[in-house]
Amino acid sequence: MKILVTGGAGFIGFHTVTALLAQGNEVVIVDNFNDYYDPRIKEARIQQLPGAIVIRQDFSEIEAMKQVFKEHSFDKVCHLGAQAGVRYSLTHPHVYVKSNVLGTLNMLECCRHFNVKDLVFASSSSVYGGNTKIPFSETDPVEKPLSLYAESKRTNELQAYAYHHLYGLNCTGLRFFNVYGEFNRPDLAAWKFTKAILDNTPIDVYNHGNMKRDWTYVGDIVRGISSALQKPFPYELINLGNHQPVELTYFIELIEKELGKKAKKNLLPLQPGDVPMTWADVSKAKKLLDWEPTTSIEEGVHKLMNWVKQNMNLLVP
Ligand SMILES: NC(=O)c1ccc[n+]([C@@H]2O[C@H](COP(=O)([O-])OP(=O)(O)OC[C@H]3O[C@@H](n4cnc5c(N)ncnc54)[C@H](O)[C@@H]3O)[C@@H](O)[C@H]2O)c1
Repeated sequence: MKILVTGGAGFIGFHTVTALLAQGNEVVIVDNFNDYYDPRIKEARIQQLPGAIVIRQDFSEIEAMKQVFKEHSFDKVCHLGAQAGVRYSLTHPHVYVKSNVLGTLNMLECCRHFNVKDLVFASSSSVYGGNTKIPFSETDPVEKPLSLYAESKRTNELQAYAYHHLYGLNCTGLRFFNVYGEFNRPDLAAWKFTKAILDNTPIDVYNHGNMKRDWTYVGDIVRGISSALQKPFPYELINLGNHQPVELTYFIELIEKELGKKAKKNLLPLQPGDVPMTWADVSKAKKLLDWEPTTSIEEGVHKLMNWVKQNMNLLVP
């Protein structure tokens, strides 16, 4: 199959493209290599993907995207590119509308006009907002986003529904839960904590450490994406999470153990936009995608730290 992967220079995109190429697919990446975080990390990922065609393009530009779709007849689209980050959305709201809302609209329009039948796209556990019913299930209410990032991801789900309804586009939105792993995003906890421990600087621990996260290993996420691409549904939203939330402090302890070094902690209140807990109900993923997470947090952190030890230059450029 010929598959367009947007955001292929990103953290999850890179791992997804690696897997899709290994399965024998042709992969075209569209990514604008923006500087939300150090673009050298994105370049380093792309270096490891010689088999993919890389198009350096902003997907919020519709005419350019039409050209891409015209030139390549895609069988499927895997839309992972987005402006990520909850906290950044408090200071840079417009980019979430441009990249996430307009960018996704462009993807839907291009699928519609260039006869692509199947779209898989990235949503997020953040759509569940401050819900207190746990674990979070796809049938739970999601109309109270706590940040513009969460709002943009929920909007993507609704945009996809309208295109499914109007034009019969098969759309599967995957709600990822706190993904971590090799080549992690530097603005995420796993990388920030690791770097702080190595640099002997304090880790900002929000909500005084009383936070639970359903950290999910990127290899498990990629299996879920791959399965969703192979098995299109008319319209579904599906959680992909580890179903095993752990305390922030335990996550830090695991990193400390792997690095053989103690963290300095700076205990802070809960940040605006943040949620105290994430926890995925994954029964729908099991039923529809035959998917279950298989990597324990201990195993995943061990893999990540092995990678960190071999790639210090990326962590401290
Ligand atoms: N990492 C997580 O824990 C997590 C959790 C929930 C959802 N998600 C979602 O998964 C997807 C991938 O996340 P990630 O962690 O790999 O983030 P990432 O920032 O590493 O990857 C996103 C990529 O999209 C590209 N991009 C952004 N705006 C673009 C634009 N306008 N045009 C072209 N390219 C653009 C970026 O350059 C980047 O390479 C995103 O949609 C994100 O919202 C991630």
